[in-house]
Amino acid sequence: MLEQLNKLEKESTAALETVSSSAALAEWNKRYLGKNGALTQLLRSVGQLPKKERPVFGQAANRVKVALEAAYEAKVEMLQRKEMEQELERGALDVTLPGRPRRPGHLHITTQTLRQIYAIFAEMGFQVYESPDVETDEMNFELLNMPPHHPARDMWATFWISDDVLLRTHTSPGQIRVMRERYPEPIRVILPGKCYRYEQITARAEHQFYQVEGLAVGHGIRMTDLIGTLTEFARRFYGMDRHIRIRSSYFPFTEPSIEADMDCIICQGEGCRVCKHSGWLEVGGAGMVHPVVLQNGGYDPEEWSGFAFGLGVERPAMLKYDINDIRLFYGNDLRFLRQF
Ligand code: DAH
Repeated sequence: MLEQLNKLEKESTAALETVSSSAALAEWNKRYLGKNGALTQLLRSVGQLPKKERPVFGQAANRVKVALEAAYEAKVEMLQRKEMEQELERGALDVTLPGRPRRPGHLHITTQTLRQIYAIFAEMGFQVYESPDVETDEMNFELLNMPPHHPARDMWATFWISDDVLLRTHTSPGQIRVMRERYPEPIRVILPGKCYRYEQITARAEHQFYQVEGLAVGHGIRMTDLIGTLTEFARRFYGMDRHIRIRSSYFPFTEPSIEADMDCIICQGEGCRVCKHSGWLEVGGAGMVHPVVLQNGGYDPEEWSGFAFGLGVERPAMLKYDINDIRLFYGNDLRFLRQF
C-alpha cells in the first residue's frame, strides 16, 4: 500500500502541474482529495493492513495529504492571479471610470431665511447679537417686567431645567443682555436664535423654532420709527407692494404694544385660505420698550427710548416657499431639504 501511496503522490503531483484553469483544478481536487477521491479512499483502507504496518502507513499518508493540500492551495492562488492578469490585459478594469459623485451639502432652509433677514436689517444699520439658549428665569421673565406669578408668564409654556433655569421661550431676554453690555451707547441690533416651548407639535407649531428679535435704543426713538422699520422689512422680504397694518396688543415688556400684519401675499388682501379669509397675515409682535425694561438694562427711561419687535423665521419661510407643515424643517428628510 505504501507503494500505491507513492504512486498516487507522483501521479497527482504531475496531474496538478498540467492544470491551467479553475474548472480543471476543481476536477483535480475532486479526483484526489474529495470525499471519494483516490487519497481519501486509500486512507480509509488503512484498516486492512496488519496492525504493525498501520502507523508507518498512516504517517506517510498524512504527509502526502498535507503536501497535496498545500500544493492545491498554491495552485488556487496562482490561477487567481493569472486570471486577474488576463482580465487586466483584456482591459476589463477601466480605471478611467468616473467615481460616484458626492452631493455637496448646502445651507438649511432656516439658515438661508435667517441670512436673508440679517441682510435686510444690516442695510438698515442693525448688528447681529447672539445670546444664550439656556436662560435664567430672571432674564427670560423677571427683568422683562414679569415678576414671579405674573399671569402673562402663561403666554410662554416653558421647559424648565431647574427652579430658576430654563430654555428661553423667546429671544427677548437678549434685550437685557445687549443693553447691559452696550450702555451708554445707542443700540440697533437684531437677536436671532432658537426658542423652546413646551407645546403640542402640529403642522403649525413646533416645540423649537427660531425668532429674530429687534431692539433699537436711542434718544427720541418713536413708534413711527418702529412702523417704518417693520414696513421696510416686509417689503424687502416679501415684495415692494406690501402694506402694513397695526393693531394694539399687550406684552409686558413693551408699552404701548402692537401687533403688525401685512396684506396677504397670496390673495393680495382679497381673502383666501392662507390668511383665513381676513386678507391679513401676522408679521410679528412689537412695541415701545417698557420703561421698566429700559431701566433693567441700565438705560434711564427719562433720557432714552426704544422700540422692540419679535419675528418668526419658519412661518415666513413657509409662506414664501409654500411649505405646509412646520415639522418638515427639523425632520431631517433630505427629500424636503434638498428642494431649497
Ligand atoms: N417675545 C414675544 C414672543 O415671543 C415677541 C415680541 C413681542 C418681542 C413684542 C418683542 C416685542 O420684542 O416688542 O411672543
